[in-house]
Amino acid sequence: MNILIIGSGGRESAFAWKLSQSPKCENLFIAPGNAGTSQYGTNVDIKVTDFEGIKTLVLNKDINLVLVGPEEPLVKGIHDFFLADDLLKNIPVVGPQQEGAQLEGSKDFSKQFMVRNNIPAAASKTFTKDTLQEGNQYLATIGLPIVLKADGLAAGKGVLICLSVEEAQQELKEMLTEAKFGDASSRVVVEQFLQGIELSVFVLSDGTNYKILPEAKDYKRIGEGDTGLNTGGMGSVSPVPFADAAFMKKVEERVIIPTVEGLKKENIPYKGFIFIGLMNSDGEPNVIEYNCRMGDPETESVMLRIESDFVDLLQGVAEGNLNEKELIISPKTAATVVMVAGGYPSEYLKHKTITGIENVRDSQVFHAGTYMDGEDVKTSGGRVLAVTSLQDNMFAALQQATADAARIYYDGMYFRKDIGFDLL
Ligand code: AMP
Ligand code: GLY
Repeated sequence: MNILIIGSGGRESAFAWKLSQSPKCENLFIAPGNAGTSQYGTNVDIKVTDFEGIKTLVLNKDINLVLVGPEEPLVKGIHDFFLADDLLKNIPVVGPQQEGAQLEGSKDFSKQFMVRNNIPAAASKTFTKDTLQEGNQYLATIGLPIVLKADGLAAGKGVLICLSVEEAQQELKEMLTEAKFGDASSRVVVEQFLQGIELSVFVLSDGTNYKILPEAKDYKRIGEGDTGLNTGGMGSVSPVPFADAAFMKKVEERVIIPTVEGLKKENIPYKGFIFIGLMNSDGEPNVIEYNCRMGDPETESVMLRIESDFVDLLQGVAEGNLNEKELIISPKTAATVVMVAGGYPSEYLKHKTITGIENVRDSQVFHAGTYMDGEDVKTSGGRVLAVTSLQDNMFAALQQATADAARIYYDGMYFRKDIGFDLL
């Protein structure tokens, strides 16, 4: 079959790497892709939100399945666009329709969904400009620190952790009355801070059946020892030692099953990934957030651990028989080290030539922010490459991914050398 992946990051590179290995995959297209995805398929320069452009491509190339990587096209309704078009409606899209994508697109929607379905999460209330006064009163009652979340998509920047009530009141005012995050903060979810250690749990669902993919831990801060500014993600590890069988059983019973059943009960069709950001608070799972897609850089580690044919699993999603598909997960550990541009996550360097990828010994190098300039591979994004290694144990995986990252060079390159060390 012919498959189209939508997106251009490390996540989509890892999808492309995995799908291209399937005997079921005849032709693979990536829109728009990057310098690395062209190793696995054909890049087509179409933006992820250019639905008409995607339609033309799908019809011209006789695409049989579309896998959507990032949240933006899902929240903007790409799946609904397909269903509403006579020529596209029978071409399966992996990724939820707009309503299901609200699990990520609206923090208020997702909190209400959790409350309705008894899914453990932090106590919270939602406020608008008109209820700012009540909001200020609530801030004084919930205890410190206080978490403020812009309701809508804010490019990963819409969550603030405030250390005093005064700071929270100031931020709440700026979010609601001064559009600190634009339209996204016209509603703000005020939430209790959860103590504990975070992990990312991934579920693939056909709307009725589900498979739990390998869990992963993501490292968000730019600096070693989890210091400095938040980033899109500096590395990942899978499996996560503290997500043992007893913990994952609680996650399945208290979070995954109520989520999949809740969607069904509420008539919200959902064919795609559910990424559950969880806090492990003394062995008890609490949901921090839902995303309607896979994580990046978690996908890079997760794909290396999946031994089954991923096209077959995606067909199960499309056809609604995911329960009949086999998911085999490697017991080995995958570790991902993300290489970023100098200056990232603030203003960063671009157009630097990357060398040394051919010297990497035992890792997959997934491209994220790269492009081809003649024969040269150059940097274009903040996150440039993801170097992922699968080894018998966590120490070996971390060591190999880090050593292989060090074999690559570009002006200003930076990566964390302590990914996963907190878990050893
Ligand atoms: P989100 O965009 O919802 O993933 O939030 C970004 C980050 O803020 C999360 O990955 C957590 O590290 C942190 N965070 C969000 N909500 C909470 C909470 N209720 N308690 C503690 N940390 C939180
Ligand atoms: N790694 C976190 C995310 O993809 O949102």
